[in-house]
Amino acid sequence: MARLACTLEDRPLPGPDAPDVVALMPGPDAAVVADDDDGRPLGAGWWHFHEPPLLRDANGEPLPELAMAVLEGQRGQGIGAALVDALADEAAKRFSALSLNVHIRNPAARLYTRTGFRVAGSGRGWFGVAMTRPLQAPDAR
Ligand SMILES: CC(C)(COP(=O)(O)OP(=O)(O)OC[C@H]1O[C@@H](n2cnc3c(N)ncnc32)[C@H](O)[C@@H]1OP(=O)(O)O)[C@@H](O)C(=O)NCCC(=O)NCCS
Repeated sequence: MARLACTLEDRPLPGPDAPDVVALMPGPDAAVVADDDDGRPLGAGWWHFHEPPLLRDANGEPLPELAMAVLEGQRGQGIGAALVDALADEAAKRFSALSLNVHIRNPAARLYTRTGFRVAGSGRGWFGVAMTRPLQAPDAR
């Protein structure tokens, strides 16, 4: 995503070990992988905790931050939406909401709006938009 932001802003690509790139990698926490029928991975979504946190809950606790990517040739078929929903189901067991940072020029913002995220203020950097999606605990549904 850090590399994608550089492409959108016409800046040189950071290396794989750059702090911005490493900060977006999945932690041990939660990741969902979408496979095809032969078990080949098509895309993945995960949440992670960033310092400083993008958004906090009503008690001041950091909200998990969603990140995801689908292979270029596999986009536009609903895999991204399925990953968002799978992550939201998992996150609802532990958190009151999910957050994310999306580049203002990234068409992924449409997907996030369609899957229940709403703008919650400015995000990271000049072009970041913070979004959040409230979650309902499974036992409250
Ligand atoms: C964002 C991403 C994960 C969406 O995955 P996906 O499987 O294409 O998602 P879906 O098929 O469920 O939904 C498609 C939506 O994604 C958006 N999108 C972004 N890039 C797209 C692309 N190259 N092709 C098709 N849709 C794209 C579209 O706006 C589309 O929304 P719409 O149908 O309302 O127009 C994928 O485009 C991707 O990996 N992008 C590069 C990495 C990235 O930007 N990650 C998000 C960082 S915040």
